[in-house]
Amino acid sequence: MSLDLLVCPACRTWSPERIDVKTIEPSGSDFLACECGRRYPIVDGVPIVLTDPGGYLRSDPATVLERDVSPEVAAALVADGPDDAPYARMLEHVSIYMDAHWGDRVEPAPDGPGAGFGLAPFVERIAALPRVPLAVELGCSVGRIAAELPAERVMAVDMHFGAVRRARRLLAGEPVAYARRMIGRTYAPAVASAGDRARAVKVVCGDVLEPPFVPGAFDRVVALNMLDSVTHPRRLLAVIDGLTKVGGEIVIASPYAWQSSVMHEDERIGGADPAAAVAEILRTGLSRPYRIEDEAELSWTLRRDARSAVTYQTHYLRARKGT
Ligand SMILES: C[S@@+](CC[C@H](N)C(=O)[O-])C[C@H]1O[C@@H](n2cnc3c(N)ncnc32)[C@H](O)[C@@H]1O
Repeated sequence: MSLDLLVCPACRTWSPERIDVKTIEPSGSDFLACECGRRYPIVDGVPIVLTDPGGYLRSDPATVLERDVSPEVAAALVADGPDDAPYARMLEHVSIYMDAHWGDRVEPAPDGPGAGFGLAPFVERIAALPRVPLAVELGCSVGRIAAELPAERVMAVDMHFGAVRRARRLLAGEPVAYARRMIGRTYAPAVASAGDRARAVKVVCGDVLEPPFVPGAFDRVVALNMLDSVTHPRRLLAVIDGLTKVGGEIVIASPYAWQSSVMHEDERIGGADPAAAVAEILRTGLSRPYRIEDEAELSWTLRRDARSAVTYQTHYLRARKGT
């Protein structure tokens, strides 16, 4: 089986000794299909590989069925509110992550206290790693880390359709126009281009807790700022471990900004010292011991609008899966 194939998230079977997976293949131009009978739609070139793609489409049609309108029209659509309307939330999310990922490759450059390029400290560290054959990014958002990951083949997954469809286009070398939040519900046009960072990446809309990838296949698994963004962070650590080849490496980071609205209460890791607890889980709590090769405190800035930004101090870890 080619290791960069996608697998059906709904019919994998587990036993203590083995995991059986079935790959999904193109079925016409609009679907991937599994021999179990399930079909996964492809929208804007991005396969939606979730156990219940129909439920996902119904729960967030504004994001999945979004059309490309000019940033000016997008801004007009949200101008009269309310702030938490689905399209308004999507526009705000895209504005934040486009600036954070591509702020050094966008016209005009982001302004205000979040000016610059919020993901820069991660890009610097990750781009300097040695090249590996196969890497995956869990929680790729609009794609900058997938663009920079030193690997011959890269796969990337996120569940936010508005983000992954833009990631796919940017990575394919297309300029992406977006509405940048200025103040309140006022937006201004901006255009990002990956330029020489465009590359072939298999971008998928999927759940990082049930990723549609071949287990144990990846030389490098990256999940930045994800542990506090999922319902079950411990399960995410187990998933990351499950995808990583013996001898492969994982790259994770988190500000441990736990929120009840995101995760189950009993899932918070490590009380007052989550960094020590996560490092200990890597050393002793996964399928094999991991050796920590790099540990740092990296700052991560998200521009919210022309007058506000949030800066997190994240705990960054790179660790190698023991044999
Ligand atoms: C805090 S953002 C981090 C994004 C990116 N890694 C970065 O550092 O800029 C969290 C991301 O996780 C994604 N996400 C949250 N839960 C997810 C899940 N269960 N499966 C896939 N993506 C998920 C969100 O859509 C969002 O893009």
